[in-house]
Amino acid sequence: MSLLSTHGLTAHYGQFQALFGVDITLEPGECVAIIGANGAGKTTLLRALSGILRSDADAIRFNNEAVGDRPADEILRRGIAMVPEGRKLFPSLSVEENLLIGAHARKVPGPWSLEAIYALFPILAERRNSPGTALSGGQQQMVAIGRALMSNPAVLLCDEISLGLAPVVIRDIYNALPQIRSGGAALIIVEQDIGQALKVADRVYCMMEGRVTLSGAASDLSREAIHNAYFGAAA
Ligand SMILES: Nc1ncnc2c1ncn2[C@@H]1O[C@H](COP(=O)(O)OP(=O)(O)OP(=O)(O)O)[C@@H](O)[C@H]1O
Ligand SMILES: [Mg+2]
Repeated sequence: MSLLSTHGLTAHYGQFQALFGVDITLEPGECVAIIGANGAGKTTLLRALSGILRSDADAIRFNNEAVGDRPADEILRRGIAMVPEGRKLFPSLSVEENLLIGAHARKVPGPWSLEAIYALFPILAERRNSPGTALSGGQQQMVAIGRALMSNPAVLLCDEISLGLAPVVIRDIYNALPQIRSGGAALIIVEQDIGQALKVADRVYCMMEGRVTLSGAASDLSREAIHNAYFGAAA
């Protein structure tokens, strides 16, 4: 039994259909990457998994319960936390206040606390009283990850956490993922950088135009297969 799975998942924005029968699974302790070009539906998939977009109850199962129709606050309380596209910090609040908001959503015992987040990202301890607006992009991304971890999630959904960051900062952020996994969270990471995705993920799903076009173990997928699944090019 998977920790989290989708079953013929669809999603719409008004008349526009963004997902067409997506089936994915996430096993306990696993890191799965979702790759695909702009507009493929990656963020939409994460929005559905986090309850921001509501689905049919049976389209999403978590801990063997049908949760597709549950609202976002309930999904978070059940243990699925999201690091959203664009970080979405509260700009007027300090680093520490932003982190504490994450703890508010769900109070369960687990490895993550302010101290643990500061140990994971030491620069945040130095900047704990700085407002979100005073931080670099990489520091903001660390706060966004820390805020999600403060709920001690069973599943962490990460939407393009490397976007727009310098390589050295991307390295710092990706270096934190093994610790996050050893803390017990399974990961779904959306990543446009295919090399990065293959490096950290156990399995990869490639999406195109709202459908999964390729899936498999990261170590088994050839560049050519990924290229074709990404762009729909005839091989
Ligand atoms: N709020 C919205 N209203 C209408 N259409 C939307 C909305 N959000 C996304 N879409 C459309 O849904 C499709 C999937 O978008 P989505 O943001 O999930 O793609 P993505 O794979 O995350 O792309 P990107 O790599 O650019 O972040 C796109 O065609 C997009 O234009
Ligand atoms: Mg997106």
